[in-house]
Amino acid sequence: MGKRIIVLASGAGSNLAALTAADLGGRIVAVVTDRADAGALMRAEQAGISGDTIPYPAFPDRAAWARALEGNVAEHEPDLVVLAGFMRILPPEFVTRWPTLNVHPSLLPAFPGARAVEAALAWGVKVTGSTVHLVDEEVDHGPIVLQEAVAVRPDDDAGSLHERIKTVEHRLLPRAVSLFCADRLRVEGRYVRILQ
Ligand code: GRF
Repeated sequence: MGKRIIVLASGAGSNLAALTAADLGGRIVAVVTDRADAGALMRAEQAGISGDTIPYPAFPDRAAWARALEGNVAEHEPDLVVLAGFMRILPPEFVTRWPTLNVHPSLLPAFPGARAVEAALAWGVKVTGSTVHLVDEEVDHGPIVLQEAVAVRPDDDAGSLHERIKTVEHRLLPRAVSLFCADRLRVEGRYVRILQ
Protein backbone atom coordinates (compact mmCIF):
# COMPACT_ATOMS: atom_id res chain seq x y z
CA MET A 1 0.00 0.00 0.00
CA GLY A 2 1.27 3.46 -0.87
CA LYS A 3 2.14 5.79 1.97
CA ARG A 4 -0.21 8.59 2.96
CA ILE A 5 1.48 11.98 3.00
CA ILE A 6 0.32 15.26 4.55
CA VAL A 7 2.04 18.47 3.47
CA LEU A 8 2.10 21.47 5.82
CA ALA A 9 2.94 24.80 4.20
CA SER A 10 2.76 28.54 4.93
CA GLY A 11 3.99 30.17 1.77
CA ALA A 12 3.90 30.18 -2.01
CA GLY A 13 3.96 26.42 -2.20
CA SER A 14 6.63 25.89 -4.85
CA ASN A 15 7.92 22.89 -2.91
CA LEU A 16 4.41 21.50 -2.75
CA ALA A 17 4.15 21.95 -6.52
CA ALA A 18 7.42 20.02 -6.94
CA LEU A 19 5.99 17.23 -4.79
CA THR A 20 2.72 17.03 -6.71
CA ALA A 21 4.66 16.86 -10.00
CA ALA A 22 6.90 14.04 -8.82
CA ASP A 23 6.43 10.30 -8.68
CA LEU A 24 6.66 9.85 -4.91
CA GLY A 25 5.54 6.26 -4.52
CA GLY A 26 2.96 7.64 -2.08
CA ARG A 27 -0.08 9.88 -2.14
CA ILE A 28 -0.47 13.42 -0.83
CA VAL A 29 -3.82 13.10 0.93
CA ALA A 30 -4.08 16.68 2.23
CA VAL A 31 -2.38 20.05 2.45
CA VAL A 32 -2.76 22.04 5.65
CA THR A 33 -1.67 25.65 6.11
CA ASP A 34 -1.54 28.04 9.07
CA ARG A 35 -2.76 30.95 6.95
CA ALA A 36 -5.69 31.31 4.59
CA ASP A 37 -3.67 33.33 2.05
CA ALA A 38 -0.96 30.69 1.58
CA GLY A 39 -0.33 30.15 -2.14
CA ALA A 40 0.09 26.49 -1.27
CA LEU A 41 -3.71 26.20 -0.97
CA MET A 42 -4.10 27.20 -4.61
CA ARG A 43 -1.42 24.71 -5.61
CA ALA A 44 -3.30 22.01 -3.71
CA GLU A 45 -6.54 22.88 -5.46
CA GLN A 46 -4.82 22.81 -8.85
CA ALA A 47 -3.52 19.34 -8.05
CA GLY A 48 -6.93 18.14 -6.85
CA ILE A 49 -5.74 17.71 -3.25
CA SER A 50 -7.88 18.72 -0.30
CA GLY A 51 -6.63 21.89 1.40
CA ASP A 52 -7.33 23.12 4.90
CA THR A 53 -6.27 26.03 7.08
CA ILE A 54 -5.80 26.05 10.85
CA PRO A 55 -5.33 29.80 11.26
CA TYR A 56 -2.84 30.58 14.00
CA PRO A 57 -4.44 33.88 15.16
CA ALA A 58 -7.80 32.15 15.69
CA PHE A 59 -6.48 30.33 18.77
CA PRO A 60 -5.70 31.71 22.24
CA ASP A 61 -2.18 30.25 22.32
CA ARG A 62 0.30 28.06 20.48
CA ALA A 63 -0.71 24.94 22.39
CA ALA A 64 -4.39 25.30 21.42
CA TRP A 65 -3.47 25.94 17.79
CA ALA A 66 -1.11 22.96 17.74
CA ARG A 67 -3.80 20.67 19.21
CA ALA A 68 -6.23 21.74 16.48
CA LEU A 69 -3.58 21.15 13.83
CA GLU A 70 -2.72 17.76 15.28
CA GLY A 71 -6.39 16.78 15.30
CA ASN A 72 -6.79 17.79 11.67
CA VAL A 73 -3.66 15.93 10.59
CA ALA A 74 -4.63 12.83 12.59
CA GLU A 75 -7.94 12.57 10.73
CA HIS A 76 -5.98 11.93 7.54
CA GLU A 77 -4.02 9.07 9.15
CA PRO A 78 -0.70 10.01 7.55
CA ASP A 79 2.40 7.82 7.35
CA LEU A 80 4.53 10.91 6.74
CA VAL A 81 4.22 14.64 7.41
CA VAL A 82 6.20 16.98 5.14
CA LEU A 83 6.95 20.54 6.18
CA ALA A 84 7.27 22.33 2.85
CA GLY A 85 7.90 25.90 3.93
CA PHE A 86 5.88 25.64 7.14
CA MET A 87 6.88 28.64 9.22
CA ARG A 88 5.56 27.62 12.64
CA ILE A 89 7.31 25.65 15.32
CA LEU A 90 5.54 22.40 16.18
CA PRO A 91 5.45 21.02 19.73
CA PRO A 92 7.31 17.78 20.65
CA GLU A 93 4.05 15.75 20.83
CA PHE A 94 3.41 16.58 17.18
CA VAL A 95 6.85 15.90 15.77
CA THR A 96 7.21 12.60 17.61
CA ARG A 97 3.78 11.30 16.57
CA TRP A 98 4.53 10.94 12.85
CA PRO A 99 7.76 10.76 10.87
CA THR A 100 8.23 14.32 9.65
CA LEU A 101 10.51 15.76 6.97
CA ASN A 102 11.48 19.43 6.72
CA VAL A 103 13.22 21.37 3.97
CA HIS A 104 15.49 24.19 5.10
CA PRO A 105 17.30 26.73 2.89
CA SER A 106 20.85 26.36 4.27
CA LEU A 107 23.44 23.67 4.87
CA LEU A 108 22.47 22.76 8.43
CA PRO A 109 23.73 23.02 11.12
CA ALA A 110 24.70 26.43 9.68
CA PHE A 111 21.98 29.07 9.78
CA PRO A 112 18.97 27.44 11.41
CA GLY A 113 15.86 29.58 11.88
CA ALA A 114 13.43 31.55 9.81
CA ARG A 115 15.85 33.85 7.94
CA ALA A 116 18.50 31.38 6.85
CA VAL A 117 19.17 32.91 3.43
CA GLU A 118 19.61 36.43 4.84
CA ALA A 119 21.82 35.09 7.64
CA ALA A 120 24.09 33.25 5.19
CA LEU A 121 24.50 36.40 3.09
CA ALA A 122 25.16 38.55 6.17
CA TRP A 123 27.85 36.10 7.31
CA GLY A 124 29.55 36.34 3.92
CA VAL A 125 29.67 32.61 3.20
CA LYS A 126 30.68 31.55 -0.32
CA VAL A 127 28.61 28.39 -0.23
CA THR A 128 25.22 27.66 1.28
CA GLY A 129 22.52 25.25 0.11
CA SER A 130 19.55 23.14 0.98
CA THR A 131 18.93 20.50 3.63
CA VAL A 132 16.13 17.97 3.93
CA HIS A 133 16.06 16.49 7.42
CA LEU A 134 13.89 14.49 9.76
CA VAL A 135 12.27 16.70 12.36
CA ASP A 136 13.00 16.22 16.04
CA GLU A 137 12.12 18.26 19.15
CA GLU A 138 14.61 21.02 18.30
CA VAL A 139 14.17 23.51 15.47
CA ASP A 140 16.12 22.70 12.25
CA HIS A 141 18.04 20.05 14.14
CA GLY A 142 17.02 16.45 13.26
CA PRO A 143 19.01 13.84 11.29
CA ILE A 144 19.95 14.96 7.77
CA VAL A 145 18.54 13.00 4.84
CA LEU A 146 19.84 14.97 1.84
CA GLN A 147 21.94 18.09 1.36
CA GLU A 148 23.22 19.97 -1.64
CA ALA A 149 25.43 23.02 -1.88
CA VAL A 150 24.62 26.23 -3.73
CA ALA A 151 27.38 28.75 -4.49
CA VAL A 152 26.81 32.36 -3.38
CA ARG A 153 27.49 34.86 -6.17
CA PRO A 154 29.04 38.27 -5.44
CA ASP A 155 25.96 40.09 -6.73
CA ASP A 156 23.41 37.89 -4.91
CA ASP A 157 20.66 39.34 -2.77
CA ALA A 158 18.37 37.22 -0.60
CA GLY A 159 15.83 36.91 -3.41
CA SER A 160 18.23 35.69 -6.11
CA LEU A 161 20.05 33.31 -3.76
CA HIS A 162 16.80 31.88 -2.38
CA GLU A 163 15.54 31.25 -5.93
CA ARG A 164 18.62 29.12 -6.73
CA ILE A 165 18.29 27.29 -3.42
CA LYS A 166 14.63 26.58 -4.21
CA THR A 167 15.63 25.04 -7.55
CA VAL A 168 17.69 22.55 -5.55
CA GLU A 169 14.93 22.05 -2.96
CA HIS A 170 12.51 21.13 -5.72
CA ARG A 171 14.74 18.14 -6.50
CA LEU A 172 15.82 17.19 -2.98
CA LEU A 173 12.46 17.21 -1.24
CA PRO A 174 10.63 14.89 -3.69
CA ARG A 175 13.69 12.62 -3.66
CA ALA A 176 13.67 12.42 0.15
CA VAL A 177 9.92 11.75 0.22
CA SER A 178 10.23 9.00 -2.37
CA LEU A 179 13.09 7.40 -0.40
CA PHE A 180 10.86 7.43 2.68
CA CYS A 181 7.95 5.94 0.73
CA ALA A 182 10.22 3.15 -0.53
CA ASP A 183 11.35 2.42 3.08
CA ARG A 184 14.90 3.26 2.10
CA LEU A 185 15.75 5.56 5.01
CA ARG A 186 17.38 4.00 8.06
CA VAL A 187 18.08 6.31 10.97
CA GLU A 188 21.18 5.40 12.98
CA GLY A 189 21.50 8.03 15.69
CA ARG A 190 22.18 11.27 13.86
CA TYR A 191 23.08 9.47 10.66
CA VAL A 192 20.51 8.61 8.01
CA ARG A 193 21.58 5.67 5.90
CA ILE A 194 20.05 5.47 2.42
CA LEU A 195 19.43 1.83 1.59
CA GLN A 196 20.14 0.68 -1.97
C1 GRF B 1 11.64 27.13 1.17
O1 GRF B 1 12.82 27.77 0.77
C2 GRF B 1 11.88 26.33 2.42
O2 GRF B 1 13.18 25.82 2.52
C3 GRF B 1 11.66 27.35 3.49
O3 GRF B 1 10.57 28.12 3.03
C4 GRF B 1 10.58 28.13 1.61
C5 GRF B 1 9.20 27.74 1.13
O4 GRF B 1 9.00 28.02 -0.22
N1 GRF B 1 11.46 26.72 4.78
P1 GRF B 1 7.69 27.50 -0.98
O5 GRF B 1 6.48 27.99 -0.20
O6 GRF B 1 7.74 26.01 -1.06
O7 GRF B 1 7.76 28.15 -2.33
